[in-house]
Amino acid sequence: MKVLVTGGLGFIGSHTCVQFLEAGHEVLIFDNLSNSYLITLDAIRNLQNGTISFKKIDILNLSELREAAKDFKPDAVMHFAGLKSVSESLLVPLSYYETNVVGTLNLLKVCKELGVSKFIFSSSATVYGVPSYLPIDENHIISPVTPYGHSKAMCEQIISNFCDTTKIDAFILRYFNPVGAHYSGLIGENPLQKPNNLMPIISQVASGVLKKVSVFGTDYETLDGTAERDYIHVCDLASAHLAALQAKTMPEQYNVFNVGTGKSTSVFDLIQAYERGCGQTLPIEKAGRRDGDVMACWTDRTKVSQQLGWAPKFNLDDMCETSWRYVVKSRALN
Ligand code: NAD
Ligand code: UD1
Repeated sequence: MKVLVTGGLGFIGSHTCVQFLEAGHEVLIFDNLSNSYLITLDAIRNLQNGTISFKKIDILNLSELREAAKDFKPDAVMHFAGLKSVSESLLVPLSYYETNVVGTLNLLKVCKELGVSKFIFSSSATVYGVPSYLPIDENHIISPVTPYGHSKAMCEQIISNFCDTTKIDAFILRYFNPVGAHYSGLIGENPLQKPNNLMPIISQVASGVLKKVSVFGTDYETLDGTAERDYIHVCDLASAHLAALQAKTMPEQYNVFNVGTGKSTSVFDLIQAYERGCGQTLPIEKAGRRDGDVMACWTDRTKVSQQLGWAPKFNLDDMCETSWRYVVKSRALN
C-alpha cells in the first residue's frame, strides 16, 4: 500500500515507518521537524530498505499539504503529527487546538479529495480523563481534563462524522504510555522540545543530562505509593499500527482501540527497571503530586487482541534496555 505518514520522523512515527517498510509498504513522510530531526530519516533508511520519501510540510498549511499529497495518491493516511504535552497544553491551549484539530481537518479534506480508503489516527488514553474503573476499556466514558485531551477527543468526533459521509475506514488508536526504542539503538525518543514524560526524564538522568528524577507523588493508594501506568514498548505500538493498516474486514467503518499491555507499573517500578537496564543507581527525590495526574491508568486490551490479532511482545526490561541502548548509541555517534 502507499501510505502517507504525517509526523513520521517523530518518536512513534519513525518506529512505525520501519515496520511499514519492512512489510513492503511504500511510505511518504510529511513532517515540519518541529519536534524531530532529519537524521532520523537516514536512520530509518539504514534499518530498512524500501521506498520511502520525505517532504518538509506543515499540516496547517492546507494548500502546501494538498499540493504535496496529490501526486503520491496514498491508499492510506497515518496521522501522527501533533502536539502531545499535557502540561504544555494548559499553557498554550490554542496552539494545541490549532495543530491537533485544524491539522486533522486539513488532512481529512485532502483524504476526501484523493479518495483515501484508510485513516489511522494517533489518539491517547488521556481522552478518558480520570478513570472511573480499571482496567479501562473502549466503552469507558470520554471525559478529558486538559486541552490536549480535548483536542484528541474532538479529532475522534470529527473523524467519526467524516466516516458517516465517506467510505473511508478509520482506526482510532488510543495509546497508553509508549516508551523504549528500536533494538538497534538507531532510533528512539529524541525530542527537540524539553521532555516532561517520565521515561525520557529517567534516561536523561541516567546519561547525566539531568541530576535526579523527581517522583511526583508517593502517597497514592497504590502498592508502593507512586502512580501506576501502562507502559508499552514503542515497537509493540508500531506493530499495532501495522495490524490496523493491514486489517481487511472490520465489523465497523469507525474502529476505536486502546493500545497498551494491560499491565500496571509504578513510577518506582519503572525507575528500578531502568537501573537494571543501565547498570546504575539513579538519584531520585520524592516530590509532591503533579497537577492533573491520575493515580492509575491501564487498559483492558481484549478488543485490540481479538479484532486486530495484536499482542505485545516486549516487557518492562526490554523497554528500559532499548531506551538505554539508544542513549548510549546516540552519545557514541555525536
Ligand atoms: P513526536 O513529537 O515525537 O512526533 C510528532 C511529529 O509530528 C514530530 O516529528 C513533529 O515534528 C511533527 N509535527 C508536529 N506538528 C506538526 C505539523 N504542524 N506539521 C507537520 N508535522 C508536525 O510525538 P510522538 O510521541 O511520536 O507522538 C505521535 C502522536 O501520538 C501524537 O499525535 C501524540 O499526540 C500521540 N500520542 C503520543 C503519546 C506519547 O506518550 N508519546 C501518547 C499518546 C498519544
Ligand atoms: C499522559 C497521559 C497519556 C499521554 C501522555 C502524553 C494520562 C493518564 N496519561 O501521560 O495518555 O499520552 O500524557 O504526554 O493522562 N512522573 C514523575 N516524574 C517525572 C515525570 C513523570 O514522577 O519527572 C510521573 C507522573 O506523575 C505520572 C507518571 O510518572 O504518574 C507518568 O507520567 P508521564 O510519563 O508524564 O505520562 P502520563 O502523565 O501518564
